[in-house]
Amino acid sequence: MGVFDKCYNFNRPDDMKSRGVYPYFREIQDSEGPVVTMEGRPVIMAGSNNYLGLTTHPHVKEAAIKAIEKYGTSCSGSRFLTGTIDLHNEMEHRIAKFMGKEAALLFSTGFQAGQGVIAPLMARGEYILSDRDNHASIVAGNMLASSININVVRYKHNDLEDIERRLKAIPLEENKIIATDGVFSTFGTVAHLDKITELAKQYNAQILVDDAHAFGVIGQGGRGTAYKFGVQDDVDLVVCTFSKTLASIGGFVVGEERVINYLKHKSPALIFSASPTPASVASAIAALDVLEQEPERVEKLAWNANYIRQGLRKSGFNVMDGETAIVPIIIGDDEKCFSIWRMLYDEGIFVNAFVSPATPPGMAMLRTSYMATHNEEHLAKIVTVFEKLGKKLGLLDEVNRAH
Ligand SMILES: Cc1ncc(COP(=O)(O)O)c(C=O)c1O
Repeated sequence: MGVFDKCYNFNRPDDMKSRGVYPYFREIQDSEGPVVTMEGRPVIMAGSNNYLGLTTHPHVKEAAIKAIEKYGTSCSGSRFLTGTIDLHNEMEHRIAKFMGKEAALLFSTGFQAGQGVIAPLMARGEYILSDRDNHASIVAGNMLASSININVVRYKHNDLEDIERRLKAIPLEENKIIATDGVFSTFGTVAHLDKITELAKQYNAQILVDDAHAFGVIGQGGRGTAYKFGVQDDVDLVVCTFSKTLASIGGFVVGEERVINYLKHKSPALIFSASPTPASVASAIAALDVLEQEPERVEKLAWNANYIRQGLRKSGFNVMDGETAIVPIIIGDDEKCFSIWRMLYDEGIFVNAFVSPATPPGMAMLRTSYMATHNEEHLAKIVTVFEKLGKKLGLLDEVNRAH
């Protein structure tokens, strides 16, 4: 058996492709607005993270173009050495101020930010308590941490009793960080930060929140999960991405100046990777301008997601409760999930199909997500088409429909 035999025998994607139900790596032939072009035809996009619809905003596009004209296409180096331009420093000041923290540090992706902050902050024998459903970037950070003998303790998803049980088992004087997504990316659940911050105080822990799906979506003016609960001063570090609300690519961490300064000099994900491109930072700064100047976009996004949540529930779908831009529709069986995915696509609607291991077995679902720039016509079409297909496939539940 050779190393690559597992690759040669990996046929599931080919099988799905041959049946026309492969939902991944689908090519988009223009910008990612509420309607995209796929295979040369218009398709309503109900699966994007472009939450405020800013990737095509004139101010954002112009900022990227001007940045390329002034700085060229790349900084060709890490922030540490030759890769820092004035735009990086400007964004760090802007984002720290927006988030009400002393300082910020930009990374080249949100993944690198999540992966890059945990291990450098911790020493041998200290503890990281991590939600089992945390994003892969935090999981990668935990793996690095455990490779240098930091204790990684995984607790049940968003389960306050389990967090407390595990905190109690660690001596009070030991250093620990609780790491949680603010909004969990698969089901859109919101971390109980109001209570987690209380536990952190009681048991002498620091808190790190990954707010990729909360930034621009919930909390005062879109400032994320801690602001939603009014506990922003009790959350020590927030890591986040430019790739969703901020309409770009890159990531950041905000926190105390001394902590950020330490990370600046200790995080391999920062030091050994080229800095975000001038166009990426310029467009994120411009997207932040729009977010600050037009906070009503955050409300429109919530309105849009609620329209779908209520509309599909009325139709009889099993729709998860929520208050974010993510609206998961539970289908159950993997094959049924891929079938409805394909039928939706044929009707001109793109959503994401999530099956095990991304979901618990038997919980295959369509993970839909919305933008502030969807209009009522888009939303009404989504509900109508879903209902038609739900009836056809026997997915509608009379109990749900009665409510
Ligand atoms: C919760 C969460 N954290 C981090 C990331 C990574 O962000 P980026 O796309 O900037 O690497 C994502 C994006 O998928 C995410 O969903």
